Amino acid sequence: MSEDNRNQSNTGDKHEYDGIVELDNQLPRWWRNLFYATIIFSIIYVWHYEFGAGPSIQDEFNAQMNALELQRLAKSSGAGLSEEKLLAVIADAQEKSKGKAIFDFRCASCHGLQGGGGIGPNLVDKFWMNGNGKPISVAQLIKDGVPAKGMPPWGAILSESELYAVTAYVHSMKGSNPVNAKEPQGNEYP
Ligand code: HEC
Repeated sequence: MSEDNRNQSNTGDKHEYDGIVELDNQLPRWWRNLFYATIIFSIIYVWHYEFGAGPSIQDEFNAQMNALELQRLAKSSGAGLSEEKLLAVIADAQEKSKGKAIFDFRCASCHGLQGGGGIGPNLVDKFWMNGNGKPISVAQLIKDGVPAKGMPPWGAILSESELYAVTAYVHSMKGSNPVNAKEPQGNEYP
């Protein structure tokens, strides 16, 4: 860069000491604007978050925890399952016989071939220890299991359609009167 060019772009003072030239350059406009913008931003920021309506870190934390809790609740209340699909499967005789095969293979060891119970409770009476006995509630329970009480969670093993099919089969056995049925446990639901 030639001396002339430099002088043109410098509007500030020029000092010279012992042959060393100091140019008092002005900072570029964009740089200064950015600098002023950060100052204005910081004032607005402090105003908003310290004195205004901006959420505190604690508020944000609480909101996130609430969202998580809602998600968890939605999961455990059958939100992932479709009652509509389940009712369609219940009405389908072919699905029911698919469900019977799954039941005989996976569930009968604990609940009896006819659902009258054994290690696990009677599934054909009106008494339920978990949920309210409605098909969607039963499906949810089969999906989640009651691991602490020895009922495996089947959601990881059965596909969704298998889950509906086996629920449909359990539902179809309701009110039957198997030999050696286990005594009712839990609360009665019509
Ligand atoms: C290893 C034994 C075992 C197997 C296998 C098993 N269950 Fe269970 N099941 C249990 C036990 C024990 C309970 C009781 C849980 C409790 O006390 O809350 C139970 C509870 C249930 C309940 C809720 C009953 C109620 O009154 O709340 C349903 C529905 C059920 N099982 C369906 C099934 C289905 C469908 C299968 C097959 C896909 C199956 N179970 C496989 C042991 C088993």
